[in-house]
Amino acid sequence: MAIGIAALIITDSMTLVVPWLIKEFIDVLPGKPSSELLLKYVFLLLGVSLFLVAGRYGWRVYMFGASRKIEFDILNRLFEHLLILDRTWYLKQKTGDIMSRATNDLRAVREFFGLGVLILIDAVFVIFAAVGMMSWINFDLMLKVFLPLPIISFLFFYFVKEIGKRHKAVQEHLALITGLVQQNLAGIRVLHSFVQEENEKTKFAQLNNEYINKNLAVTRIFGIFTPTMVFILGVAAMLSLWMGGKAVIAGSMTLGSFVAFNGYLMLLSWPMMGIGYVFNLTQKGMAAMGRIQEIFVSQSEIKPAPEGTGTLVEVGDIEFQGLKFSYPGEDTLSLKGIDIKIFQGQTLGVVGVIGSGKTTLAQMLLRFYDPTAGALLIGGRPIKEIHRLRDSIGYVSQEPFLFSMSIRDNIVLGRVSATDRELEEIVRIAGLKKDVERFPHRLDTLIGERGVSLSGGQKQRVALARALIKKPEILILDDAFSHLDSETEEEILENIQGQLRQTTTLIISHRLSAVRGADQIIVMDAGQIIEQGNHASLVRAGGVYANLFQNQLLAREMEILL
Ligand SMILES: Nc1ncnc2c1ncn2[C@@H]1O[C@H](COP(=O)(O)OP(=O)(O)OP(=O)(O)O)[C@@H](O)[C@H]1O
Ligand SMILES: [Mg+2]
Repeated sequence: MAIGIAALIITDSMTLVVPWLIKEFIDVLPGKPSSELLLKYVFLLLGVSLFLVAGRYGWRVYMFGASRKIEFDILNRLFEHLLILDRTWYLKQKTGDIMSRATNDLRAVREFFGLGVLILIDAVFVIFAAVGMMSWINFDLMLKVFLPLPIISFLFFYFVKEIGKRHKAVQEHLALITGLVQQNLAGIRVLHSFVQEENEKTKFAQLNNEYINKNLAVTRIFGIFTPTMVFILGVAAMLSLWMGGKAVIAGSMTLGSFVAFNGYLMLLSWPMMGIGYVFNLTQKGMAAMGRIQEIFVSQSEIKPAPEGTGTLVEVGDIEFQGLKFSYPGEDTLSLKGIDIKIFQGQTLGVVGVIGSGKTTLAQMLLRFYDPTAGALLIGGRPIKEIHRLRDSIGYVSQEPFLFSMSIRDNIVLGRVSATDRELEEIVRIAGLKKDVERFPHRLDTLIGERGVSLSGGQKQRVALARALIKKPEILILDDAFSHLDSETEEEILENIQGQLRQTTTLIISHRLSAVRGADQIIVMDAGQIIEQGNHASLVRAGGVYANLFQNQLLAREMEILL
């Protein structure tokens, strides 16, 4: 960057030499100089021009290179920061908006640091130097010519403010558009199946139209700004010609000085407009940097436990003590005082109607959020104090997410060090063996956009394998078998129980067959535990669970009959 700036200043200084050479040239003319002397001036001018070309190349390379480096660093830091932010933050964000900040806004910042800084230094230097030269030639004339200056500054600041405001609106709108595109692409199948293409097209066209209008608003104000500046400069030139001309006639100024004075005045026209452009870039860059900065200052609310506070090597019992929780920004409690103890190595079954708080309960164990009130202890220690807690937990979420990579890579994400034999074993336990054998490249088959599409049940089992290969101390299955038939489900559950004897397991399910064998079962309703016991005792109690059991039994018999 420093080299670039140096090259720029040297180049600019050379530009200033040109009117001076012309002045000398004109001033020697009345003395009838030899052709040799005249040729000397011509070659000098040629030399300066060549030097200018080289100088321009120099600053371009160095300045733009530096701005790319700045962009690169910001993007890296941004990605790192995005990786550590927690759910509470992501809940409040739109993916499209984040994407827009990482691309459009970042580009605006780069343009500011490259082009913007460059033009700024260029313009400020040329303005000061040219005005300096003019005062040196004729201080009096310089003062008169710049009489309109206060008006310029006033107009200038008005424009700058207005341009900034309009730029911010453009950037924000662009984020909106990115958001819509991102959402539509993610849900393209839904759009197709609901024949919503036309609707979305109209919606997009409308947003796009507004975007153009907002951009035009910026262009409009620029359309006024630039000509205004040119006009003011024109007035200055007029004053200079008139008063300078009089001075030459009066003999108080040489013709060469008069020409040079006007030459310097003309040199000002580019930086005057350049400054306008810089302010444009600066406003854009600042608005953009502000939007990127908003991500940088966001912090995770979940503070990781300090190192050395002990990991979950030996787990111990899990205890919910009067735990209450409401989602960030929500008034109602999603968990209203949960008290339960799960002994190490045992299995807890969780059932309950939709929205009763089952997933929320599981997420407390993963510490996606901290409790609003009450406590959650593992092995007698508050969960907040357990370092690298999630290392010890295998979690299969209700809507498993698989990456667009091979099945193998998706599974070993759980534990990169897993051997091929372990992998094979896990594939068997997760009931994936037969499926994998049918895939074109077995475990190396790609999933998603560039590979095969998995069925819902296959996805669930890949996600299960990913959790199992961690050999977790705690295993959480959130409705993990909803896409499987009861037989497969039973088979897999048996496999798991045979394999992970030491593991404390939490099975959330809508199907009672999945929790039937659990050591303990809770029935949840509206964030509370309404029944608790094991299968036999709950059936005997004749409550919600018993009812549900009868219904599901009946349904199953019907299934077999039909
Ligand atoms: N991110 C969230 N922000 C705000 N409220 C939420 C959020 N996620 C869930 N809730 C609310 O918390 C309550 C419990 O939801 P939860 O997902 O735990 O239910 P669930 O028992 O897992 O239901 P399901 O059987 O459908 O999976 C619901 O009332 C839901 O609206
Ligand atoms: Mg759920």
